[in-house]
Amino acid sequence: NPTESPRLTVIGTGYLGATHAICMAVLGYEVLGIDVDERKIAKLAAGEVPFFEPGLPELLTKALESGRLRFSTSFAEAGEFGDVHFICVGTPQQPGSDACDLTYVNAAIDSLAPHLARRALVVGKSTVPVGTAAELTERLQRLAPAGTAVELAWNPEFLREGYAVDDTMHPDRLVFGVASDWADQQLRAAFRPVLDQGTPVIRTDLATAELVKVAANSFLATKISYINAMAEVCEAVGADVKDLADSLALDDRIGGKFLKPGLGFGGGCLPKDIRAFAHRAEEIGVGQAVSFLREVDAINRRRRARTVDLVRELLGGQISGHRIACWGAAFKPNSDDIRDAPALDVARTMHGLGGHVRVYDPAALDNARRAFPELRYGENALDVARDADVVVLLTEWSEFREIDPDALAEVVAHRRIVDGRHALDAARWREAGWEYRALGRS
Ligand code: UGA
Repeated sequence: NPTESPRLTVIGTGYLGATHAICMAVLGYEVLGIDVDERKIAKLAAGEVPFFEPGLPELLTKALESGRLRFSTSFAEAGEFGDVHFICVGTPQQPGSDACDLTYVNAAIDSLAPHLARRALVVGKSTVPVGTAAELTERLQRLAPAGTAVELAWNPEFLREGYAVDDTMHPDRLVFGVASDWADQQLRAAFRPVLDQGTPVIRTDLATAELVKVAANSFLATKISYINAMAEVCEAVGADVKDLADSLALDDRIGGKFLKPGLGFGGGCLPKDIRAFAHRAEEIGVGQAVSFLREVDAINRRRRARTVDLVRELLGGQISGHRIACWGAAFKPNSDDIRDAPALDVARTMHGLGGHVRVYDPAALDNARRAFPELRYGENALDVARDADVVVLLTEWSEFREIDPDALAEVVAHRRIVDGRHALDAARWREAGWEYRALGRS
């Protein structure tokens, strides 16, 4: 029989795990969050979320006050406590390769399995190459104490940074990759309040569940690169990609989401997921089926180079020696995440070309400073724009949209702006005397 209200452990308290643990406790479950990083665990236990995510700090306080959420570094405690164990550790890109690095997933199973002294379900949530769950099933059963019935399931996570709480509390769908009815029932018990809202569930096998995640991220990346490829064509003929995208978006078979042209995608998920998927497909002999993902990646990288070109054009052919204000460092707004951030890539390239670059971001400054101390930073948007020869908008934070072109004109040396995210009202800036340029617009 399934456990009525299973006790949950969440292994890995990074972005995904911390959000999952906190939300599950708020939904009424007893939750134990586990991580090997003592500092992270100490912070969370003290009520501090170690990354920027709107709404999450308030929920952490609430969950801790309820007494249902605790944190620990002990896998023995996890084994003792949990009925359902969620694996939420990172699966980064391997250095020097497109392949996915499974070190942390394997380590989580290796550390947990020997402590599973009673029947338990281990649920993978991390993004992994298809076939990983089958290997982990074998690994889990080999390492668990003899005679314990442990099973593995796969439940991919689709949350977006910046909307993590809402995406966890009200997901579009739940995907349960299971090998038995018992596992399915355990998962249903572990998501009861979410299912009660009418959230659709797809029950499937382990391999399909793994694939859903990479297929979804690949589709999203492809949609972005599609419109950015159209931007390249628009540039060649003097057409306008913004009007083009707006027109496509009105066909509801296409839709406007993830059809925003600009500097392209970054972050800890889409770039590495499409590369790992292409790599995995090649390993299993179906590389041709997804070879277009290599092109999706190439189109995306070209956007960064083209943004630098646009700045160079606007500066009369030379980056070197010019003062350049960069607005944005995070890979997208409402995040302090700078993993594979297009904004910082562009800023660093211009710095490398001899530009006097100054960067401002509302949330990611500390992370950017730590990762790239060679760049110069400023405390606000106007501060970095002082005496600038050009302002370059790289991450579309709402505070940049709200800046008054006349007020900005007072501080800059030249009224030149490159809008890398199509975030500003071109007509308004031009009326205020600015030379306004954006990718894919004449
Ligand atoms: C992405 C997916 O959207 C989530 O569903 C998934 O769960 C997550 O990866 C993951 O695998 O964990 P996230 O990386 O938080 O979420 O960010 P997105 O909102 O998808 O944005 C990704 C990038 O695409 C950003 O750099 C954004 O600026 C860019 N983007 C997005 C565009 O350039 N154009 C668009 O139209 C939309």
